[in-house]
Formats: sequence, C-alpha cells, structure tokens
Amino acid sequence: MYERVTSALGTRPAAINHSEMRQRQQDFCAEMTKGSVAIITNNPVGIRSADVHHRHRFNSYLHYLTGWHGKEGVAVFHHDGEWKCRLFVRPRDIKMETWNGRRPGVEGALTGWPVDETESRDNLKENLEELLNDVENVYHIHGLDSDVDEIVELALQEDSLNPGEILDDMRVIKSEAEVALMQYSADLASHAHVEAMRECVLGMGEWHMQSIIEGCFLFHQSQWAYPSIVGSGDNATILHYGDNNDVMNDGDLVLIDAGCEIDGYASDITRTFPVNGKFTDAQRDIYELVLKAQIAGIEACQAGSPWSAMHHATSRVLAAGLIELGILDCSLEEALGEDFDGQYREYFMHGTGHFLGLDVHDVGGGRQGDEESERILAPGMVITIEPGLYFGAWRDDVEIDSKWSGIGVRIEDDVLVTEDGPVVLTAKCPKEITEIEALVGSN
Ligand code: GLY
Ligand code: MN
Ligand code: MN
Repeated sequence: MYERVTSALGTRPAAINHSEMRQRQQDFCAEMTKGSVAIITNNPVGIRSADVHHRHRFNSYLHYLTGWHGKEGVAVFHHDGEWKCRLFVRPRDIKMETWNGRRPGVEGALTGWPVDETESRDNLKENLEELLNDVENVYHIHGLDSDVDEIVELALQEDSLNPGEILDDMRVIKSEAEVALMQYSADLASHAHVEAMRECVLGMGEWHMQSIIEGCFLFHQSQWAYPSIVGSGDNATILHYGDNNDVMNDGDLVLIDAGCEIDGYASDITRTFPVNGKFTDAQRDIYELVLKAQIAGIEACQAGSPWSAMHHATSRVLAAGLIELGILDCSLEEALGEDFDGQYREYFMHGTGHFLGLDVHDVGGGRQGDEESERILAPGMVITIEPGLYFGAWRDDVEIDSKWSGIGVRIEDDVLVTEDGPVVLTAKCPKEITEIEALVGSN
C-alpha cells in the first residue's frame, strides 16, 4: 500500500538551502537597530515519563534562520561591524555521543550550517553577558531555555522584545522553495488519507486508520505535524478527540484530521466518510452543507481580502443551510448574529482556519474578525479552510433532533493564496461524495 503512495509522490523537494537562510538572517537583522541582540533558542526536551523523553522537535524560528536542530542550540545575532550569527552548540563528547547520538560539535557546526561563528554551549554565560553589556534592545522568547532566561533577566533592566514581531511577518509569506515543501507535505498527507479510505472496512478500529496514515508518513521519512484525530460516530463531534480507541460501527461517519511534516513544513487535512462506504440521507445533508461552505471559504481566499473573509463566507453558508434543514428556526440575521456569533455557533464552534507553515497553527494569524490583528491576504500565504458541523449525541446544552444526533463533519484543505486566486495544495485528497463512496473499502 505504501509503495503506491511512493510512486504517486514523485521526487521529494530539497530542504531549504543555506543561501535562503542567509537571506532570512539579513532580512531579520535589517529590522533591528545595530545596538540590538537577538537570541533564538531551541525548544526544551520534554519528559514523557520518568527517564523517557518526548521526541524532540526543533524550534521553528531556529530552524527558519539556521536549520540547526541540535538540542540546546542557541543562535545569537549581534552587530560587530556587520551583523553576525553566532551559534552555540553542545561540544563533541564521545562518551555522551555514544549514549545519545552524534553531535557536529563547534567545528562541525561552523562548516555545516549557515552561521558566521560557533561557540561551545559551555561558554554561553560569559559570551552572552558580554554581548548583552550596554545593549539597546534584546529579542528573546522567554520560557524555552532556562539558562538563557536567567542570563537575560540578570542583564536587562527592561523586558526583552519578541523576535516574532519581526520574524512572523517574514514566515507568513512562503517562498517558492517553501511552497514546494508544503505541496509535498500536502501530497503525502492526501495520499495517506486516501489509503485509509481504501482500507476502511467494518470491524476496524479508529487506531487502524491512524496506523495506516501515520505508517504512510513514517514510510516516507515524515511524521505527524500534530497528533492525529480519528473519531468515529459521536467521537467525530469532539473537536480535539485523540483517544482513537473505539471500534468503528456500521452506519457511523469517521472524521480523520491528520497531517505530516516535511523539512518542518506542515500539512493539515480533515476528511469525513462513512465507515460502511455509503452516506445516510441525514449524513449526506450535513456533509453537502459543510462542503458547500468549505468551497465558499476557499473561494474567499483572495489576495487583498482580510483573512476573516473566509470565515464570514463559510459562516453565511452554514447559517443559511442550518435554517434550510430546519435545524435552526430563526431568521438568517439571528442565525448569523451581529458579529458572526449567532445561533449557528452552537454547531460550528471553531474558526474556519489558521495560517499553516513550520507550525500547524502557524504564526501570523490573529483571531478571525478581530480587526486589530487582522491580516490582509497576500500571495504566498498558506491557510487552512476547515468548516465543520457537530451534533454530539451526548450534548445537553442544546436540543439536537435524533435525525442529526451523532453526526460530526469537518472538511479541511490547505490553500495557497496567489495573484491568480486560491490554489488548493491538498487537492489530491478527494472530498466529493461520489469520489468518497467509490473509495471507501475499495482495497
Ligand atoms: N489539526 C488541527 C487543526 O485542524 O487546526
Ligand atoms: Mn487545521
Ligand atoms: Mn486539522
């Protein structure tokens, strides 16, 4: 099954090259005064239980600027006649490397990564204290590296600034090379969803779907970008369901929200399909409504529009459709509400989408409808469009007719904004009812 995906995928694009990272460094530094220092730390290693750790994921800002993944890495940008990037790394240590894996060390980091200077992490304190002496502004994210936090706190009278204030505007617009990686990530996730649909037969568990999808990621040297959600029946109505441990029953819909990472770039796809391969009339009514809303949301992803335009577009379709189906008994104005907070929100509780990139909920997005943080869509931005409707049988906060009870549908695609309109990166993942019914259980 995985080989079929391999041949459909084609060549994997190269990771972001060093000259692109150098350009990012220059653009970042150009936004700082010369008396500033920026410190970009790696993510900490999380403890899973006792002496077992979570798999480490590099910090997205550090990856974006340097490509460095080594634990405890710290990149420091400082002006010394010209802007320089000094990378602090763990030094070579054969004993430690024998237990925990190879380290490039101070010399390896200098020759293998796009930085100007490298230094042992052992010398971090004295180096940073010197660089922070008489400094104008310090850019630093608190809470990731406690050693750095302590040094910065002692050295500064005032709070540090958030490097995201500069970097987020850069990250939100994807370059050609980034789009190529995101397209591949979207393709892999699309094919993985298709394989899950093909393999789905009655008697399987949610975990079987998860294993097919995540196996497909792993087989292609990828991994999930966020924990996969596989919710069948009523579990589909729980937005952040993640147990994935129920058997899927005849007559249930199953909602799968799963995406992968390629060179750090995420895909994020949701598909909902009937476990037995055939939508019931009620499931079809809800599915068609969500699909219509999703297509309207994608169409609203036009350069020059505020990014909340897509939320407003999906909301209008959903509110009108809920009235048409008799689920809401009110006017369209009441269903929508003054601020898109009307009665339709009983069944569509989340936003329509988010920016996508090195993080699944990527930088650059404010709250949809919040004018102060609202971005205007521009070519190179990638956003998800993911309306849904949820009628949890277990809910007692709202009346749900038995006809709709237990139905949860979300449809999510990743969309690139271009001068010529929206491009759906996840187009290889079918979402029309006829396509889905033909695929499910077809293997
Ligand atoms: N998978 C997370 C989301 O759709 O936002
Ligand atoms: Mn999403
Ligand atoms: Mn998702």
